[in-house]
Amino acid sequence: MAILVTGGLGYIGSHTCVELLEAGHEVVVIDSLVNSKREVLNRIHAVTGKQVAFAFADLLDRSAVTRVFQEHAIEGVLHFAGLKAVGESVREPLRYYHTNLTGTLTLCEVMQEFNVRRLVFSSSATVYGAQERVPLVEDLEKQPVNPYGRTKAMIEDILADLYRSDERWNIALLRYFNPVGAHKSGKMGEDPSGTPQNLMPYITQVAIGKRKELSVYGQDYPTQDGTGVRDYIHVMDLAAGHLQALEWVLRGVGIDAFNLGTGVGYSVFDVIGAFEKASGIKIPVRVTARRAGDVAVSYADPTKAEGVLNWRATHGLDEMCEDAWRWQLHNPHGYDG
Ligand code: NAD
Ligand code: WQD
Repeated sequence: MAILVTGGLGYIGSHTCVELLEAGHEVVVIDSLVNSKREVLNRIHAVTGKQVAFAFADLLDRSAVTRVFQEHAIEGVLHFAGLKAVGESVREPLRYYHTNLTGTLTLCEVMQEFNVRRLVFSSSATVYGAQERVPLVEDLEKQPVNPYGRTKAMIEDILADLYRSDERWNIALLRYFNPVGAHKSGKMGEDPSGTPQNLMPYITQVAIGKRKELSVYGQDYPTQDGTGVRDYIHVMDLAAGHLQALEWVLRGVGIDAFNLGTGVGYSVFDVIGAFEKASGIKIPVRVTARRAGDVAVSYADPTKAEGVLNWRATHGLDEMCEDAWRWQLHNPHGYDG
């Protein structure tokens, strides 16, 4: 039996494929390469000595998805495929709703047709939006503030309805906080196309000399140093969390949402300081205005994932920075190098 990983050549999916292969699973990947490179397949092989079966296909192409289920005995699905850029989702909401929602609906319909009802879904801490209190716990009311976040909240609701209609489904909704870092080998990591929108890849690109300076978006938040506070989590901890969530859905336990975060918040200046220590490189910064839509503080209460999934993050901020830097240093042009 195999595990299907949609979006398995992307940043988090590819690191999770490594964990799955190392745990002895057979892995099938569907990816349209809209935000990833075929080279990732070679890197997964270089790191694990194993191959994944790859279907170059869009989830919106129902016949292609059906073919994958015909050709492989799929036991469960990790569903990463989707579009994830917040700003782009504001400019192109229809594309985001169509890709993320219709992609998920198509996947679930085909799963149902083939009697596969075990699903781990990539949700996001973005579903919380601006909340009055931190740490964020799973039972808070969702209030996403942009189309991307709303696709995640809507998909969570759709999957809950699906479960209510047929309790044979087993679904884990994983709300990731801020994924950073890379595989220890330096062979796999985050490879954003165009200008990085997220803090860590922007910092690593400044360090490698691709960008002049980092803009720090606001120093007037009610936080210890005035900059935004987030819960950064190492991508290999996330990958390990998926393995635990997969075991949980394979055991057959219904539907639930889990925060995947460390429970610790770091400011933008904390991250810059840790990165400078890890790399020995000084990051030039310029404090600018706040970025629209940013919240001051966001970090997880990870207690539920600890108790139910038996998972907790083990990598600290220094390791996240060391690993992100190793990847960037060895691959200055990402997977194109
Ligand atoms: P990514 O863009 O690196 O990976 C997504 C992968 O899905 C890519 O390889 C892309 O080519 C593929 N894809 C997109 N649409 C597709 C489609 N219609 N059919 C087939 N393949 C398609 O993103 P990531 O950072 O690895 O994120 C994975 C998932 O986790 C996404 O659903 C994202 O929304 C969610 N998430 C990401 C973060 C983050 O900060 N990286 C945080 C929370 C949640
Ligand atoms: C982190 C902190 C910025 C860039 C985003 C998405 C969220 C989720 C994860 C998918 C903030 C500051 C950033 C820069 C900066 N993705 N910053 N200069 O905004 O917490 O979350 O990624 O689900 O949906 O919104 O992450 O890395 O963009 O920002 O000062 O050049 O760094 O203001 O405080 P964010 P981020």
